[in-house]
Amino acid sequence: MAAPHGLFSVVSLAFLLAAASATSPVIHEVFSYSGAKGPGSWGHLNPNFSACSSGTHQSPVNIVTNQTVVNMSLSPLIRGYRPANATLINNGFNIGIFFQQDAGALGIEGKNYSLKQMHWHTPSEHRINGIQYPAELHLLHQAEDGSLAVVAVLYNYDKRNGFISTIEKQLREMGKETCGRDQEPHIPLGVFDPKNIKRHTRRYYRYLGSTTTPPCTEQVIWSIHAKVRKISKAQVEALRTPLYSDCKNNCRPLQKLNGRHIELYDEHSDAPKSEDHVRNRDCSTR
Ligand SMILES: *[C@@H]1O[C@H](CO)[C@@H](O)[C@H](O)[C@H]1NC(C)=O
Ligand SMILES: *[C@@H]1O[C@H](CO)[C@@H](O)[C@H](O)[C@H]1NC(C)=O
Ligand SMILES: *[C@@H]1O[C@H](CO)[C@@H](O)[C@H](O)[C@H]1NC(C)=O
Ligand SMILES: *[C@@H]1O[C@H](CO)[C@@H](O)[C@H](O)[C@H]1NC(C)=O
Ligand SMILES: *[C@@H]1O[C@H](CO)[C@@H](O)[C@H](O)[C@H]1NC(C)=O
Repeated sequence: MAAPHGLFSVVSLAFLLAAASATSPVIHEVFSYSGAKGPGSWGHLNPNFSACSSGTHQSPVNIVTNQTVVNMSLSPLIRGYRPANATLINNGFNIGIFFQQDAGALGIEGKNYSLKQMHWHTPSEHRINGIQYPAELHLLHQAEDGSLAVVAVLYNYDKRNGFISTIEKQLREMGKETCGRDQEPHIPLGVFDPKNIKRHTRRYYRYLGSTTTPPCTEQVIWSIHAKVRKISKAQVEALRTPLYSDCKNNCRPLQKLNGRHIELYDEHSDAPKSEDHVRNRDCSTR
C-alpha cells in the first residue's frame, strides 16, 4: 500500500507487537501526530480506536512528584532479559527494535510479561512536574493472556547514551535509506542483548494507563523510571531523522488522570532527588 507521506497502515494491537511483519493482517487505517489524522481525531479514525477518545484511563500523563504516593507493596522491577535476534524497524511513526526470539521477561505481581519490542518517542510523552524531556524509551511487554506492561525511560540532553550508541550506525543507515521513500526499512541487528539498557532502578512510578498510539488499549501497567538517563543531541536527531515529517514529534498530548493516583516504588524511601531538566516543549507546536 502506498501510504501518503506521513501516514501509515496499522493493524490494531497486533501491529504494535508484530511490527510490519509480512504476515500481519493490515487494517487500512491511518493516524498521524498532526493535522486531520492527529491525536485529537484518533478515536474517530477506526471503530477499534474508540478508546483513544472515550477512554478514561489513558496515557501519557504528567507525574506530579509531590502528589505521588509511596506504595510499600510494590516490588522492584525484576527483569530477566536475554540476548535475542532482533531487527531495527522504521514504522514511520517511530523507530523500534523487535525481537524474533524470546528476549526474556518482566515479572509483576507473579505474572510473566515477555519483552516484545522497544521504541522511542521524541520528545517524551510522560512529563515529570510538567517537564517534557527530549526522548522517552518504551519497553513493551506482553503476558500470555494478552495484557500489557510498559517500562518507560526518560532521557535528557547530556553525554551520549551507551545503549543507543550500540545501534547508532544502523540508525544513521536508516535515516539515509528512508530519504524520499515511504518504505519501512528493516535492519537486522543480529543477536541483541536487552541487558545493554541500564535496567536497575531504585525508584519508579506506577500507574494504570493505555498504549500511547492507537488503539489506545487500556489496562496497561506503566512503570516509569524516576531516574532520567543521558542522551546526546546527535542521538535524538538520529532517532528523529528517519521518521515521517509529521511524526518527528511523535508524542501524544497529556491525558487526564481522572482520579488515578500515581504510586512510587522507592527502594530506600529517600526524599526525591532533583534531576536536571530541559525547558518545557509543547508537542502540538513545531
Ligand atoms: C477491528 O479489529 C478486529 C480485530 O483485530 C478486526 O478483525 C477488525 O477488522 C477491525 N475493524 C476495523 C474497522 O478495522
Ligand atoms: C507540589 O508542587 C507544586 C509545583 O511544584 C506546588 O505548586 C505545590 O504547592 C506542591 N504541593 C505540595 C502539597 O507540596
Ligand atoms: C500498592 O501496590 C499493590 C501491588 O501492586 C497493589 O495491590 C495495591 O493496590 C497498591 N496500593 C495502593 C494504595 O495503591
Ligand atoms: C537470527 O536471524 C537470522 C535471520 O532470520 C538467522 O539467519 C540467524 O540464524 C538467527 N540467529 C540466531 C542466533 O538465531
Ligand atoms: C517468562 O517469560 C520468559 C520470556 O518469554 C520465559 O523465558 C520464561 O520461561 C517465563 N517464565 C515463566 C515462569 O513462565
